[in-house]
Amino acid sequence: MKVVKVPLQERSYRILVGRSLLSQLGAQCRRLKLGQRGVIVTDDRVGPRYAKTVRDALMAYGFKVETVTLPHGETSKQWKVVQDCYNQLAAARIERGSFVVALGGGVVGDLAGFVAATYLRGVDFVQIPTTLLAQVDSSVGGKVGINLKAGKNLVGAFYQPKLVLCDLDTLQSLPKREFRAGMAEVIKYGIIWDARLFSTLEAQIGSLLKLDATLLEKVVARCCQIKAAVVGQDEKEGGLRAILNYGHTIGHAIEAITRYGTYLHGEAISIGQVAAGHLSQSLTGLKAKDAQRIEALFKATGLPTRISLNAGQRKRLLEAMQLDKKVSQGQVKFVLAARLGKVSPGHSVETDAIHAALDSVQKN
Ligand code: NAD
Ligand code: GLY
Repeated sequence: MKVVKVPLQERSYRILVGRSLLSQLGAQCRRLKLGQRGVIVTDDRVGPRYAKTVRDALMAYGFKVETVTLPHGETSKQWKVVQDCYNQLAAARIERGSFVVALGGGVVGDLAGFVAATYLRGVDFVQIPTTLLAQVDSSVGGKVGINLKAGKNLVGAFYQPKLVLCDLDTLQSLPKREFRAGMAEVIKYGIIWDARLFSTLEAQIGSLLKLDATLLEKVVARCCQIKAAVVGQDEKEGGLRAILNYGHTIGHAIEAITRYGTYLHGEAISIGQVAAGHLSQSLTGLKAKDAQRIEALFKATGLPTRISLNAGQRKRLLEAMQLDKKVSQGQVKFVLAARLGKVSPGHSVETDAIHAALDSVQKN
């Protein structure tokens, strides 16, 4: 097992990464002196597989446990489901000293975290991420929230968990397409922070896709370490944290114009990161050879790197970028790379250059 610390003064917490960790939850919650009553929030795909193990682990240490099961999928990240959760917490007599366990992917983590942040003005919560994306990204750093019709993640809070427990065994049941989508965030850490991680991924992508346990532990822990370092310096995205959005400006717009129905988030940001590589080549001095390495690694992972857009779709994509919530004073900002492992946020980019980057990822 590897342990990563997120350094946030009195809100610091540990991320545990390893195998067979679900059964250690009771001991970990006792160690943290959490209250006697816990609620597991999960979804209808993850719950049937793992909720019993989590429940038994808590009960073995004397905790009283309730379970709330949500329908799986992004549509659960909505206000109505939050209200249902509040009502179930009230029925279970959850008190200020109780805690919420988010057991699932990023949808469950974001929603359960938001419920934990707001119910009784905040109860403790623990993240047990069960997708690769949630293990390396969404469970770490305290962004919790839900969607509005007007856009994704428009309502939320920064609310840090007390513990993140990444049990790599849960990835065995994750659909391969979801695993590959999570790899897009893993590769992102190589590009934005750690050229050695990028090289490791290039050399060992085959073993990772086969879920080699030792490699997976090393890679997931390294990604968590990087996110912890970024969040530790900039918890509320005043500056540095924006680098985590590398490839997301175009990626989010691709998701929006395809109405979140064609590409998984990781697939859209795969194309977005390749396009950002091309932009970086023309604007921030990324070497052509490194832009090619970026594209080749996404391809080797089985992720899309090209998209077919007609003129109308391209126009809508540019409009969607303007609507992205990270736009400030009407300016679309990009994270761009100077080299592998080194990026900077806040680049304004001319429309012509965006068109050239889109040309470079155009599928004919
Ligand atoms: P998800 O939570 O929808 O999970 C994907 C699918 O896999 C679901 O159907 C789920 O039921 C299933 N699943 C999860 N774990 C499984 C397992 N171990 N075995 C079998 N099936 C399993 O999607 P996701 O990609 O984990 O998360 C996406 C969400 O994360 C989005 O809402 C996004 O906005 C959010 N997000 C948040 C942050 C943040 O910092 N808070 C960062 C990135 C993404
Ligand atoms: N996923 C981006 C962030 O946590 O800031």
